[in-house]
Amino acid sequence: MRMRRKRNLEPRMEACADLLLARGKPCKNLKEAAENYRAILNYEQIFGNSNPVELEIGCGNGGFILEKARREPAVNYLAVELCTNVILTAMERTKAAGLSNIRFLNIPAEILPCYLREHSVGVIYLNFSTPLPEKSREKQRLTSSRFLAIYKTVLRRGGRIEQKTDSEEFFEYSLMRFGEAGFTVSGVTRDLHNSPYAADNIVTEYEANFTAKGSRIFRAVATLEENGGADPLF
Ligand SMILES: C[S@@+](CC[C@H](N)C(=O)[O-])C[C@H]1O[C@@H](n2cnc3c(N)ncnc32)[C@H](O)[C@@H]1O
Repeated sequence: MRMRRKRNLEPRMEACADLLLARGKPCKNLKEAAENYRAILNYEQIFGNSNPVELEIGCGNGGFILEKARREPAVNYLAVELCTNVILTAMERTKAAGLSNIRFLNIPAEILPCYLREHSVGVIYLNFSTPLPEKSREKQRLTSSRFLAIYKTVLRRGGRIEQKTDSEEFFEYSLMRFGEAGFTVSGVTRDLHNSPYAADNIVTEYEANFTAKGSRIFRAVATLEENGGADPLF
C-alpha cells in the first residue's frame, strides 16, 4: 500500500534542512553514482566534534536512533532512510527533542559511499529491514553480498553490524551472507526479548508491532575483523 504524501511536505522538509545532509539520487545509475559522485561528509564540521560515528540504515520514524542518541550523547549518529515521508517524522522528532548528535540522509543505502568517508563508521544498525523474500529482489536485501561489500568500505576495522528482524528466513539468510563476506558472527539470539540482550534493547516501532502480534525477534552482531579488507564495490 502506498503511503499518502504528508501535508506541506516540502516546507516541512525545508524547516529541517539543518538536519538533512543529503537528499535524493544524485544519479540514476548507482554504479556510476558511487564511482563518479562524491560529496564526502566532514563529520567534524557537521557535528562540531570528533566523536565516533554510527549509522542506522532504514531508520523509519526514528524511534531507535532518537533513543540511542539520548543514551549516548558522546556518539554522533547518521540515519539513512529512503522514504521522504517517513524521514520527515524522524527529523521533526529530533528537532522537538533538541538532540544535536543526529543527522539524516534521505537516500538509498546503495549510494552511501558517495557520502561517507572510507572506514569511518563504527557500527551499522539494521533494524527490521524489509526481508524481500522474492528471489528476484535478493540484491535489494540490506544484508545481501552486494550491500555487505558497501558496508565493508564504510565500516572501521573492527566495526560491526547489529541486526534485528522478525523474519527467521531473512535472519538465517543474513547469517550465511555475513559468514561468506568474512564477518565474525556473535551475540546470536532467536528470541531477543527472552535473552540476556533484552536489558539494553531499544524497541523500534516495527519491533513493538511484531512483538504485539506474538512474533519472536532475531538478533545478531557481525564484526569485521581488524584485517578484513574491503572488496571492490562493483
Ligand atoms: C520495515 S521498515 C523498519 C523501520 C525501523 N527501522 C523500525 O524498526 O521500526 C524498513 C525501512 O527501511 C527503509 N529502506 C528500505 N530499503 C532501503 C534502502 N535501500 N535505503 C534506505 N532505506 C531503506 C524503508 O523505507 C523503511 O522505512
